[in-house]
Amino acid sequence: MADNLWTRFLARPNDDRVKTVGMAFLVALGCGVLVSTAAVALRPVQQANIEAQRAATMLAMLEGVPGIGEMLERASVETLVVDLDTGALAPEIDAATFDQQAAAADPEASTQLSRAEDLAGIGRRENHALVHVLREGGELALVVLPVRGAGYQSTIRAYLALEADLETVAAFTVYEQGETPGLGARIAEAGWQAQWPGKRIYDEGEVMIDVVPSGASGPHEVDGISGATVTGYAVSDMLLFWMGERGFAPFLQTLREEGIR
Ligand SMILES: Cc1cc2nc3c(=O)[nH]c(=O)nc-3n(C[C@H](O)[C@H](O)[C@H](O)COP(=O)(O)O)c2cc1C
Repeated sequence: MADNLWTRFLARPNDDRVKTVGMAFLVALGCGVLVSTAAVALRPVQQANIEAQRAATMLAMLEGVPGIGEMLERASVETLVVDLDTGALAPEIDAATFDQQAAAADPEASTQLSRAEDLAGIGRRENHALVHVLREGGELALVVLPVRGAGYQSTIRAYLALEADLETVAAFTVYEQGETPGLGARIAEAGWQAQWPGKRIYDEGEVMIDVVPSGASGPHEVDGISGATVTGYAVSDMLLFWMGERGFAPFLQTLREEGIR
């Protein structure tokens, strides 16, 4: 019966409307099946690539931390998911598959920030974030926090590594930005980032870190880049946001009170 139908269909003249539409339908169906099969089959490979990329970025970031070589020989690195509102860990979310960037764009997984709250110019803030923790002999050695904000003409994404006191900067690494080459884009250069280790993020509990146009002094100031004051202010503002109450402050408080289990 099916054979018969197929033979009759093929026997129709090539300019027949039913044959044309039917063929187009069959080709579309075949392509659809092919594309969806490929998407499903390749998902684990894609996920592995995302993981590898994340690990490579983390390692590159940690290279900027003084004494990291020795530390890594003894330390274990763990990636955790944090509930940004409560500051508690969210063990129900798998860190290996959690896509923080997708969460930031998902209304179900993020929160709209008011204008007054949105110091980093990000619009929405994801409810959960990935943090990386280095432990030496069970003791906390470093916490690496992802931060981002609107720059002069791009979103600037960076990692801030804090020492065990949760105040002193171990490293600040910009891993993605689209600022102007030679101007704002210099924030991604090792020379500019070398100013960060040893700086202090808080002063008596208040976020107190500033990228100043020039003449930085003291533990809370970093020199900006001449001709790129706006980019420098964007870095200050994103740290003001992410190290504050709507960012990682509740999580850092949890770490201070309970440590990490
Ligand atoms: C083509 C062009 C690209 C620019 N790119 C940047 C940039 O990446 N970052 C930035 O802060 N300012 C950039 N600026 C300059 C800003 O308009 C602004 O003048 C500058 O941030 C002021 O910094 P200054 O006080 O150090 O001169 C750019 C200006 C032009 C004309």
